[in-house]
Amino acid sequence: MLDRDHNAPALPPEIARRRTFAIISHPDAGKTTLTEKFLLYGGAIQMAGQVRAKGEARRTRSDFMKMEQDRGISVSASAMSFEFRDYWFNLVDTPGHSDFSEDTYRTLTAVDAAIMVIDGAKGVESQTRKLFEVCRLRDLPILTFCNKMDRESRDTFEIIDEIQENLAIDVCPASWPIGVGREFLGCYDLLNDRLELMSRADRNVKADSISISGLDDPELEKHVPGPLLDKLREEVEMARELLPAFDRQAFLDGTLTPIWFGSAINSFGVQELMDGIGSFGPEPQPRPAVSRQISPDETKVSGFVFKVQANMDPKHRDRVAFLRLCAGHFKRGMKLKHVRSGKPMAVSNPVLFLASDRELAEEAWAGDIIGIPNHGQLRIGDALTEGEDLRFTGIPSFAPELLQSVRAGDPMKAKHLDKALTQFAEEGAAKLFKPMIGAGWIVGVVGALQFEVLASRIELEYGLPVRFEPTQFTSARWVTGPKDKVDAFAASNKGHMAADSDGAPVYMTRLQWDIDRVERDYPDIKLSATKEML
Ligand code: G4P
Repeated sequence: MLDRDHNAPALPPEIARRRTFAIISHPDAGKTTLTEKFLLYGGAIQMAGQVRAKGEARRTRSDFMKMEQDRGISVSASAMSFEFRDYWFNLVDTPGHSDFSEDTYRTLTAVDAAIMVIDGAKGVESQTRKLFEVCRLRDLPILTFCNKMDRESRDTFEIIDEIQENLAIDVCPASWPIGVGREFLGCYDLLNDRLELMSRADRNVKADSISISGLDDPELEKHVPGPLLDKLREEVEMARELLPAFDRQAFLDGTLTPIWFGSAINSFGVQELMDGIGSFGPEPQPRPAVSRQISPDETKVSGFVFKVQANMDPKHRDRVAFLRLCAGHFKRGMKLKHVRSGKPMAVSNPVLFLASDRELAEEAWAGDIIGIPNHGQLRIGDALTEGEDLRFTGIPSFAPELLQSVRAGDPMKAKHLDKALTQFAEEGAAKLFKPMIGAGWIVGVVGALQFEVLASRIELEYGLPVRFEPTQFTSARWVTGPKDKVDAFAASNKGHMAADSDGAPVYMTRLQWDIDRVERDYPDIKLSATKEML
C-alpha cells in the first residue's frame, strides 16, 4: 500500500475520521453476524438480526436471489456506512464463496484495511488463506477477530502460532481469552488493562467493562475464579514475553496483525475491535494512478469504479456502479468527467448505503463508497474526476479458468443473448470472447458456479433460456506486443484467437504446452493471465 509522507500535513478531519475496510473470512466463520453487530453498535439498526431478516425479505424478490439463499452463499457484494464514536465506517462486503474471488479481489482494491475473521475451533481455513494472500499483495493492514470463543476452541497460543506460521505475519494479542467454551468468561484487554466480561443473558448487551490496574490488581479476584485467574496470569506473562508488542507502523505495513478474541453472536469483543479500527486506522490512503499518485486531501474529487451491480432494484433494471472516492469533497449534483469516454456526467442520484437501506448522498469524502445508478455507462476500472485524465491502476482482470460456449435456447433470440452477455461482461461477472473463426461467444469464468448464476440471470432478466457447453479450450491469455507482431501472430493462429469485450486480442488453448511454445517461438509476444481494467 502507498504510504502518505510522514511529514505531510494532517488530513482534513472529515477525511481523517473515515475508515474503509472489508471483512475476509471462510464461510461460516461469522462474517454476517459480525457485520450485524457492527451495524448495531453503529446505531444503523435497532436490533441485531435485521441484516439477515432484511436479506431474506430481499431474497424473496427473485429466483436468482433465491439461489443465493438455497446455496447459502452471498453472490453480490455491497457497501454499508455507519458512524461509530468519532469515526465514519465504510464496510465493503466481500462475497465469501471461492468462485467469486475476482469480485472479491477488486473489492479489496477499494478498501484501506481488512478484518480477518477466523473460527476459534477451526483456525485458518482455505478461503481465509486465499483472501489473506490477496490482502498481502497490497500490503493491506489486517485486524484479526477470533470468533466463537463461547464454544470449545483451540488453545490461544496454538491459534496465534497457526496464524503466524500459516500466513507469515506477526500476531500481537490485543485481548486474551479467559476460559474456553462453557467456561468462557470474557477477555483481558491487554491494550487498555480492562476486564471485559461476557453476558450470556442477553446477546445484544455490551459486555461489562471493568478497569484493572494490571494483572496483580486484587479486583481481578472478585470476577475471575482462582484456577482461571492463575492460568490467565501465566499465559499473559508468556504472551508478553514471546509475542510481539503492538507496533502501529508494522500494522500499517501489513506485517503485524492485532488479534481480538470474542463471540460475535454474543456481541462480545466487537466494540473493542471497532475501537481498534478507529484508533489504529488507517485513514484513507493515497491511490496509484497514471500519471501520478492521488492523495486523499486533494481538493478536486476523483474516484474509481470497483464494482458494478445489477439487480438491486429489479423494478427499474438499473445498475449501480460502486465508486471509491479517492480524493476531495463530493457534493450531490456535481458534474464529473467520465475519463474513458471523455464525457461529462452529472452525478445527481448518488447513493450511500446505510445499513441495508439506500439513502441519497448529499455529500461524501475521500474514503467513502458511493453508489451511482446508471444505465451501463460506468464500468469497472472507470475513473471519474473533475477534469483530469487520470487512470487508476491496480484493478486487474484475471484470465478465466473455465471457458464454455453459450447458445440461446431460441436461435431467433441471438441478439438478446448478445445484449445479456455484454451486460454481464461489463458488470465483471464473466469474460466474453468472440472467436476469430466461427460464430457465437465463448464465456469465461473463474468458478463453475458462475455459469449457473449466469444462466439463471439470463433467463430471469432477459426471458431467455440458454445452454452452456464445453469448448475445446481451457485457458485464455491476453496477447500483447508490437502491433505488427501481434497481427502476424494472430494471422497464423486464427483457430486459437478471439477478441475480448474491449477488442483486445486473446489466445485460447487447452494445453500449457501451447503457451510455452508461443513464448518460445514468438519472443516479441507476451501472453498474460491478467489485464489492467481500462
Ligand atoms: P458467515 O457470514 O461467515 O458465513 O457466518 P455467519 O455469521 O452466518 O455465522 C455462521 C454460523 O455461526 C451461524 O450459525 C451463526 O449464528 C454462528 N455464529 C456466529 N458467531 C458465533 C459465535 O460467536 N458463537 C457461536 N456459538 N456461533 C456463532 P447457523 O446455525 O449457521 O445460523 P443461525 O441459524 O444461527 O442464523
